[in-house]
Amino acid sequence: TSQIPVITIDGPTASGKGTVAHRVADKLGFHYLDSGALYRLTALSALRRGTDLADEHALAKLAEHLQCSFQGGDIILSQENVSDAIRAEEVGNTASRIATFPAVRHALVGLQLGFRKAPGLVADGRDMGSVIFPHAPLKVFLTASVAARAGRRYKQLIDKGFSANMEDLLKDLQARDDRDTNRAIAPLVPAEGAQVLDTSEMNADEAVDQVLQWYAAIAK
Ligand code: CDP
Ligand code: CDP
Repeated sequence: TSQIPVITIDGPTASGKGTVAHRVADKLGFHYLDSGALYRLTALSALRRGTDLADEHALAKLAEHLQCSFQGGDIILSQENVSDAIRAEEVGNTASRIATFPAVRHALVGLQLGFRKAPGLVADGRDMGSVIFPHAPLKVFLTASVAARAGRRYKQLIDKGFSANMEDLLKDLQARDDRDTNRAIAPLVPAEGAQVLDTSEMNADEAVDQVLQWYAAIAK
């Protein structure tokens, strides 16, 4: 599998990773890995089962035995479509907390590596370029100002029918940034050799075009 190309797209919450990675994968006909969804699925399972969110061992076990599948755009957990449920803010915040546990991260490695299939993979998350696919031929670090990202998240939540409050979102986003950036294991930093793209003033299509240009330049 080491010949199969991987494009990694890492960055903070609401920087547009998911949107951009998905569209790049579509354009190239590549597979797509939403690694954050795996942390969200683990978080959702834990919340529903009432697992102690400080019990690293129990959480790692949940992660290791996730019964999940990705079908088209849908995310299935134990036969239930949880595509919308895992996007709730509570689930995202819980995901970010449990993602600080090494045993949880370790439990999800094999599942992530399994997404590398021909003809190629676009993987988005926090540590795709730094930890999971360190030899990826193209690594991108997407970023945007806190204000731009909070605005994007607000719109997404309202569009999905969730309620949202801008002040709370800003606070949550900063707390999530802090936790993701300052944790001891797999902190959110641009991977070595990553192209950094600030999308504060860009729409998603412009970001997609830039990533495709970078890829075309190395693929020829
Ligand atoms: O959509 P958003 O960027 O907020 O989050 P996500 O990508 O769905 O991931 C949810 C949480 O999982 C993040 O806040 C991270 O703490 C964690 N995560 C991680 O630690 N490593 C990854 N590769 C992906 C997500
Ligand atoms: O995966 P991540 O949390 O980084 O972000 P996302 O879930 O893809 O959400 C980004 C939202 O901002 C989507 O609604 C996009 O349409 C929008 N957006 C973007 O992705 N990229 C831009 N440059 C501008 C807006």
